[in-house]
Amino acid sequence: MVTRVRTVAFQGIEAVPVDVQVQIAPGVVVFNVVGLPDKAVAESRERVRSALLASGLSLPAKRITVNLAPADLPKEGSHYDLPIALGLMAAMGAVPSDILNSYVVLGELGLDGRLAPIAGTLPAAIAAGADGRGIICPAQSGPEAAWAGEDIDIVAPDSLLALVNHLAGRQVTARPVPRRRAGPEGLPDLSEVRGQDVARRALEVAAAGGHNLLMIGPPGAGKSMLAQRLPSILPPLNARELLDISMIQSVAGELAGGAVSDRRPFRAPHHSASMAALVGGGLRVRPGEASLAHNGVLFLDELPEFAPQVLDSLRQPLETGETIIARANARVTYPARFQLVAAMNPCKCGLAGTPGHVCRRGTRCAADYQARISGPFLDRIDLRIDMPAVGAADMIGPASAEPSAAVASRVAAARSLQERRFSGLGLARVHTNAAAGARLIEEVVCPDAESRSLLLQAAERFALSARAYHRVLKVARTIADLAGAEKVGRPHIAEALSYRVNFQVT
Ligand SMILES: Nc1ncnc2c1ncn2[C@@H]1O[C@H](COP(=O)(O)OP(=O)(O)OP(=O)(O)O)[C@@H](O)[C@H]1O
Ligand SMILES: [Mg+2]
Repeated sequence: MVTRVRTVAFQGIEAVPVDVQVQIAPGVVVFNVVGLPDKAVAESRERVRSALLASGLSLPAKRITVNLAPADLPKEGSHYDLPIALGLMAAMGAVPSDILNSYVVLGELGLDGRLAPIAGTLPAAIAAGADGRGIICPAQSGPEAAWAGEDIDIVAPDSLLALVNHLAGRQVTARPVPRRRAGPEGLPDLSEVRGQDVARRALEVAAAGGHNLLMIGPPGAGKSMLAQRLPSILPPLNARELLDISMIQSVAGELAGGAVSDRRPFRAPHHSASMAALVGGGLRVRPGEASLAHNGVLFLDELPEFAPQVLDSLRQPLETGETIIARANARVTYPARFQLVAAMNPCKCGLAGTPGHVCRRGTRCAADYQARISGPFLDRIDLRIDMPAVGAADMIGPASAEPSAAVASRVAAARSLQERRFSGLGLARVHTNAAAGARLIEEVVCPDAESRSLLLQAAERFALSARAYHRVLKVARTIADLAGAEKVGRPHIAEALSYRVNFQVT
């Protein structure tokens, strides 16, 4: 007889159903796992054997075959331990097999029978709920599963023995409760940044419309400082955005303790990051920093120090809002709609363009350094600003800069204007001007004759690409939203154009 236990495999952030079929038959004593298991799955035999022993059960001296169906779908990860163990126990009559039918099961086993947390519980629980089933998962993953909904039956024991007792009705494990991470208290505040009015304004515009931002300036001007203060002015995630990013974090195994937070993600990978680390991939395909920054900010400090190829790998997600990882045996898509914030010095010595400074290598110093960033990558950045060093008067005078809370309220108002506009047009998935498509932005901006002529002049003078043209329109729309203006006028377009500074500093 064959017993079946339902579990899942992950394709991107989607949980695909997998059947664990267990057969115990007379014959040579072997324990085989078939159905494209990777190393971690194949090794689960040893963990399952020991965990069963620790729970007082030994495997029968028979031929044991475990099949993971569908057989042509690659199976990765350690979450197959528990469904295999339960399938074996059901085949041995140690747990009732009919109860197992109504659950999706996943969990990693320790040699002592304890259950260890696994990645991907949230998408698995959502898939289970959609299928009308409950979920059995490790205790530490329970709070994560609890976010999938109140009507889903969740069993989250800490050991195999506790699970057997629960299924037999001897000792009931309590239903886990969803957990939240603490709010954004203690974030660095904008009031600490002195001077830099243009940069502060650009940061506000970027936050309001979800635009990409590049800050170029000498060392110590406050570029990193300003970027780190962006989370303090961004609005919290709405329910839909929260679910999307939590799914990605769950699959990446980054939902610590199963607690979710409505704070927008802020990812700041070091410039030594590889392509797989940034866009996702690797031996066991997992989401990269670009996906972990979904609905939030990806901050690339010291931009030219990143490998040029790695930066260019961001071109596709910057345009489409998702990364597609193609491997010989898998093709995986992860959402990656992030706001890019980058900082850089104008040249290797860092001071090109500073009055009175002459680079020792002349104009080559800046040209070589800036050439590490490709034109198409730069074209995708809506706001590019020069950040000169802070003046002595600003530094020494009394600190009277506006605090983050005041900026955050203006940003929130502009964002809710955008939400209302796009949901009014029936576009529930578009939340910001930056995320709007080219046709849509032309429709919602509709510049008047005066702004149109300014745009025309600028497009000819600066040789704006079609993409750059649409990006200027998006930024102008955000500037108008910040001002509460219904129509986009000439001043809004002019300000938007001023943020596309000529890159080449000599
Ligand atoms: N505008 C500013 N207001 C107040 N303090 C500042 C400002 N700019 C810089 N500082 C001080 O200088 C320190 C360094 O600033 P920051 O790291 O932001 O410089 P940077 O522009 O990123 O330089 P680099 O190009 O070397 O990375 C800050 O921690 C802060 O103490
Ligand atoms: Mg810095």
